[in-house]
Amino acid sequence: MKKSETIIDRDGTGRPVPLFGPEEFAAMRRAGQLAAMTLDYITPFVRPGISTGELDRLIAAFIADHGARSATLGYRGYPKSCCISVNHVVNHGIPSDDKILRDGDILNIDVTVILDGWYGDTSRMYFAGERIPVKARRLVEVTFEAMWAGIRAVRPGATLGDVGHAIQRVAESNRFSVVREFVGHGIGQTFHQPPEVRHFGRPGEGLVLRPGMIFTIEPMINAGRPAVKVLADGWTAVTRDRSLSAQFEHTVGVTEEGVEVFTLSPKGLHKPPYPPTTAD
Ligand code: MF3
Ligand code: CO
Ligand code: CO
Repeated sequence: MKKSETIIDRDGTGRPVPLFGPEEFAAMRRAGQLAAMTLDYITPFVRPGISTGELDRLIAAFIADHGARSATLGYRGYPKSCCISVNHVVNHGIPSDDKILRDGDILNIDVTVILDGWYGDTSRMYFAGERIPVKARRLVEVTFEAMWAGIRAVRPGATLGDVGHAIQRVAESNRFSVVREFVGHGIGQTFHQPPEVRHFGRPGEGLVLRPGMIFTIEPMINAGRPAVKVLADGWTAVTRDRSLSAQFEHTVGVTEEGVEVFTLSPKGLHKPPYPPTTAD
């Protein structure tokens, strides 16, 4: 290929977007599966009365026992091994022994592992107890469907605008709103890299997807207005109107055929309510 024909795709921020080959996809598959296994593992422990600090310790031990480390611990000064965001917390909630789950809470647990130098990043919603308000259940359901509408839009030749539009459409047609301040991201041997993946957009706009691109899709959907603010701890983002917020996240790769999801649950624990099990 002549130099003038060399293609370097750039995302909306003008940065080049790397392409990954088969071995790199295999490494991402391993990292993604460990992150998903971690979310499977924690599921039976999520119940009223446990603290988010305790959930974090269990997750930290599980990751270490599997020969990996947490990507969040020490990341830009972040103090814990995962993020746990309860009710009106949008994302980056810091686990704490003072934060005890109550019956009726909805929460997101976001885990990123580093395995053999590769990052796997995924999050799911959980219910604490069974007395989950109807609106909260509906928000979680719609957020899950919004994420999957985004994933289904991923294929060679589609654009990131197509992906964002698909997500936004599901959220807004259900009278919920899409958070603008936080986006999905390229990922690989670093935590956050190009491309920036918006969860809103217009069909046909933005980066054209090619086989070999790898990024997360992680929409945050609010029951009320889209505006968020970050608390004084510098991390915890909450809805300004204190409405409930939900999020799911997968790490995906663009393939010749369409999309590979690296972080699918090995146990089929895709969305709550999860089948009852005993914590051991
Ligand atoms: N896992 C989050 C994401 O999806 C990032 C968490 S960074 C932290 O991108 F420092 F807040 F942990
Ligand atoms: Co992410
Ligand atoms: Co994440």
